[in-house]
Amino acid sequence: MIKKIAILTSGGDAPGMNTVIKAAVNVALNENLETFVVKEGYLGLYNNKIEKVSKEDVKDIDVKSGTFIFTKRFPEFDNDKNRQQAVDNLNSRGIDALIVIGGDGSFRGANKLSQMGIKTIGIPGTIDGDIAFNDLTVGYLTALDTIVESIDKVKDTITSHGRIAVIEVMGKGCGLLALSAAIANDIDVLSIPEKKISEDEIISKVEKVLKNGQNQVTVLVTELMYDVNKLAKKIEEKTKKVTRATILGHTQRGGKPVPFERINAYKLGSFAVSELLKGKTGITVSVLNNKLISTPFEKTVNNKLKISEDLFNTYKLMKGNKN
Ligand code: F6P
Repeated sequence: MIKKIAILTSGGDAPGMNTVIKAAVNVALNENLETFVVKEGYLGLYNNKIEKVSKEDVKDIDVKSGTFIFTKRFPEFDNDKNRQQAVDNLNSRGIDALIVIGGDGSFRGANKLSQMGIKTIGIPGTIDGDIAFNDLTVGYLTALDTIVESIDKVKDTITSHGRIAVIEVMGKGCGLLALSAAIANDIDVLSIPEKKISEDEIISKVEKVLKNGQNQVTVLVTELMYDVNKLAKKIEEKTKKVTRATILGHTQRGGKPVPFERINAYKLGSFAVSELLKGKTGITVSVLNNKLISTPFEKTVNNKLKISEDLFNTYKLMKGNKN
């Protein structure tokens, strides 16, 4: 039976991470577990930045964005010696269980910790939504909310001027955020990693939209696919219409978690502790088809999220043969 538990956040921060922490801390303390947080993710675990936490410490964090226990990117955690140092730090305090909130990179580290004897559970926390066997990663819903609101605003101005907008959103190889926003914002031309189209195809779709009588056009793409400033220039040269690129960037990671984000976070944080109390380890917890489930780390990290075909089809049907 576990007696001491620690929680850390790793990788990019995401709205709702704090809510998960509050949920896990409260449930752990209700179950009389001694409860700790690790500051600065795996780097902090390596540097022994481990602190005891009380309900009072997490009382007001659930509605705040970011992660109040901080996060860092620490690829050096892949190194066996560094991980052993982290395990030694946990063992020296008698901490036998760890919750890792992060993305698939974080779960690879968590999997190794589990193999080294620490009971470890992962919770999907990333705005990208790109974790297999899950409906909603913590952070995705709020990021989508921010994106949709931002694109509404960009559309206000391009409509006023009769311009073309090329908008880039995050996703790190996953088009879920862009595809969802394409539906919510009625985007004219979309390119995502899962259905990539060439720059020339983008341009000819833009031309088709203009030919169909629209005076403004929105193009939405996932990051890391194109140089959007160069693409905007190319579109402008070809169409002779003013074209501006907007990179939404880190605005997408901020903002108070939206209500359903909080509910999802509470579900996952409390479920993770109850799974640990049952002796489970080496798993991610997630909501799939509206049910809380556990999946072995190996399965989670070796599979890519498959974006629902229904979502693609909704976008395609909405566009018809307009572009
Ligand atoms: O994984 C979340 C994410 O925001 C990605 O969408 C993006 O590619 C990456 O993190 C950016 O990371 P950083 O803030 O370290 O530049």
